[in-house]
Amino acid sequence: MTIAGVSIVLLLGIVNLILVVFQVSTGKKWVKVHFAWHRRLGLLLLFTALIHAVLAYLSR
Ligand code: HEM
Repeated sequence: MTIAGVSIVLLLGIVNLILVVFQVSTGKKWVKVHFAWHRRLGLLLLFTALIHAVLAYLSR
C-alpha cells in the first residue's frame, strides 16, 4: 500500500517516531506545551501505532 509511491507503513513509522519524541519531551517537560496536547497526541499515537502494526502485518 502506497501514497505517491511511498509506503503507508513507512509514513506511519515516521509519524510514530515524531510522536514518541514529542511525548517523551513534553512528558519530561523538556518542551513546554499545554499538557492537554500530551494527552491528545498520546492517544493519537496509540491509534497510529496500531494502524502501522496492522498494515505491516497484512502486507508481510
Ligand atoms: C493518552 C495518553 C497519555 C496520557 C493521558 C499521559 C499523561 C501523562 C501524565 C499525567 C504525566 C505526568 C505529568 C506530570 O505531572 O509531570 C505524563 C508524563 C509522562 N509521559 Fe505521558 N501520557 C500519555 C501518553 C504518553 C506516551 C505515549 C508517552 C511516550 C511515548 C508518554 C511519555 C511520558 C513521559 C516520558 C512522562 C514523564 C514521566 C516522568 O518524568 O516521570 N506519555 N504523562
